[in-house]
Amino acid sequence: MKDLAGKHIVLGLSGGIACYKSAELCRLLIKAGASVQVVMTAAAEQFMTPVTMQALSQHTVYSSQWDARESNNMAHINLTRQADLCLMAPASADFIAKLAHGQADDLASLMCLARPIDTVPLLIAPAMNLEMWRHPATQRNVVQVTRDGAHVLGVGSGEQACGETGDGRMLEPVEILDEVISFFQPKALRGQHVLVTAGPTFEAIDPVRGITNLSSGKMGFAIARAAREAGAEVTLVAGPVSLPTPRGVTRVDVKSALNMFEAVNTKAQNATIFIATSAVADWRPESTTDRKIKKDGTGQCPVLHFVENPDILASLAHSERGQSRALYCVGFAAESHDLLTNAQAKRLRKGVPLLVGNIGPETFGRDDNALLLVDESGTRELSRDSKLSLARKLIADIAIRIGDRTEN
Ligand code: CTP
Repeated sequence: MKDLAGKHIVLGLSGGIACYKSAELCRLLIKAGASVQVVMTAAAEQFMTPVTMQALSQHTVYSSQWDARESNNMAHINLTRQADLCLMAPASADFIAKLAHGQADDLASLMCLARPIDTVPLLIAPAMNLEMWRHPATQRNVVQVTRDGAHVLGVGSGEQACGETGDGRMLEPVEILDEVISFFQPKALRGQHVLVTAGPTFEAIDPVRGITNLSSGKMGFAIARAAREAGAEVTLVAGPVSLPTPRGVTRVDVKSALNMFEAVNTKAQNATIFIATSAVADWRPESTTDRKIKKDGTGQCPVLHFVENPDILASLAHSERGQSRALYCVGFAAESHDLLTNAQAKRLRKGVPLLVGNIGPETFGRDDNALLLVDESGTRELSRDSKLSLARKLIADIAIRIGDRTEN
């Protein structure tokens, strides 16, 4: 099922060069399953033609409050009555100022004012020059519209169309899409701080070689994203992977198991949920060399000695915080066979209330997976699905467990 299936979004464009990004945004919203009705201000039409937006949205664009196509001549009312969301992207400094004052002298601002405020949320993606963005008047207006119930997204930073560099660019279309998808997810983990480990670790042999594994980190990154979508503060401790950081997630990059152990121990101080998805190397070479180990021409191979890495999950789960109700620990088990037996045994060994089993070789690097949730009372299967869908289901399940625990 597409993330925005069944959602009707009114996409408003006010004047700004960022209108060029709104064409792509419209396409992405539709691709994600939404139906989109575009509304443009006269200034927006200076930057993007209604023809383009009509072609992309497959609906005629509205721009006038006097549009006689509406039988009651009240486009400003009709537009939002079936909408799940009003999204102003770009929202110019002038447009935000209008909203802050409840002004309504064109269709887009009139529609925002006339929308049913309790049922049709307003999401705003600001776009302007950096001086305009940091001007106290704009910042004051942003505070005001937020107080009035709008959700103001952040801005991007970088080179601007005017040639200056700084904050104020509209977020990229895909970032706005992620914000919209996230907006519609239930906020089951609001107030929680989730710590996630993801990806493989890399255990150095010498400066150019090391030992790692096939974990792609995709499941852990999906879980971090799902937890963030559910309203939690999320810290993601990631082994060496090149995946993009999910929006709103704080990422700490580490290399070895020891690095990960240290980062987790620091970040666990204020975590309330710990989800260990990382495929941590069980052993590391006892010693590493500063210089590359060279062949000596005799055909003799170097002999490596290993020592065991700390078990990050077990040590946290057995700690005072892990044993108290302050921290809920969830483990993963990447198995190649006997999933249920191994997962049950691993849950007890790690000392966690919930362990999630999956078949490693069948999931490493893929975008889908199948999970087996094992707890003290039995098992629950989450059948094959995209990693993001599974992550959302797992997060919803964990939220219920935490709720039950708090009530008991
Ligand atoms: N884990 C960990 N630190 C380690 C090893 C594993 O935190 N040094 C965590 C993993 O992130 C996962 C769980 O423990 O949540 C199980 O990891 P897995 O690799 O499946 O199991 P192992 O503990 O390595 O046990 P085995 O080698 O017997 O499968």
